[in-house]
Amino acid sequence: MKHLLKMLDVSKEEITDILNLADQLKYEQKHGIKHHHLAGKTLGMIFQKSSTRTRVSFETGMYQLGGNALFLSSRDLQIGRGEPVQDTARVLSRYLDGIMIRTFAQQEVEDLAKYGSIPIINGLTDFCHPCQVLADLMTIREYKGRLEGLKMCYIGDGNNMANSLIVGGLKTGMKVSVACPDNYRPDPAVLDFAADFDGFQVTANIPEAAADADVLLTDVWASMGQEEEAAQRREIFAGYQINGDVLKVAKGDAMVLHCLPAHRGEEITEEVLEAHADEIFDEAENRLHAQKAVMVKLMGK
Ligand code: CP
Ligand code: NVA
Repeated sequence: MKHLLKMLDVSKEEITDILNLADQLKYEQKHGIKHHHLAGKTLGMIFQKSSTRTRVSFETGMYQLGGNALFLSSRDLQIGRGEPVQDTARVLSRYLDGIMIRTFAQQEVEDLAKYGSIPIINGLTDFCHPCQVLADLMTIREYKGRLEGLKMCYIGDGNNMANSLIVGGLKTGMKVSVACPDNYRPDPAVLDFAADFDGFQVTANIPEAAADADVLLTDVWASMGQEEEAAQRREIFAGYQINGDVLKVAKGDAMVLHCLPAHRGEEITEEVLEAHADEIFDEAENRLHAQKAVMVKLMGK
């Protein structure tokens, strides 16, 4: 594994290796055991969109691994003034040991990897959010002891989170159901991948998707970059919400996860979010551990 560009590129074995290392790094951090696997290394973090979790967890994670992280806002980089990605990739490869990028087009991340000579990590694009899904899988495994055979149900927009959850879930042996409006289905490339799995279902029917689920997940109705569609999306997605009714049809011990930020009263009720806050904030914490594992795998030795 040279980069983390999208879950479609990562094998089941690689996912398991990352999750095992993430568990170990979490244990070591909790017990004050230092792990300076990236001493002297520098990660560049390019942000074309806002972030709380991704920025802080990568920066802190790099520090805990003995390295440094540079926050590079696209507002300040020449890339924001039109310097081509292929030049940016080759220049930054001369200074840095790895790049994390959050941007709009998946192609930009793929081009960084193509033209650069250092590991590239996707910190979210319109297409996918692999770092988040690794943290989600880590959290599910922590609570349930396994992934294989569990049913994950995602309710809401067929967006970057849906795309990555479907691929990550199916690759690790989970059953995956998605409830979304017909015109807001996941990406065709992801649906093509999922078509080979018996345990995959996409429907507009929420109770059908949520029936007997072990894990319920959702995400915002309007993603970053879709702010102007927010009002229209509130109408289209009304009802695509994790609430008490959905929990009634899921398994009695179902977990609820949310990548955050959450819009209470839209994709999740206040009551459900607060009742499952332990899981949801463990999930947020696990961003740190899962990404440290990714960085060690890609940038170590
Ligand atoms: N979940 C997530 O990626 O959060 P941020 O947008 O705050 O980084
Ligand atoms: N779908 C959301 C995820 C945020 C972590 C977005 O892209 O804004």
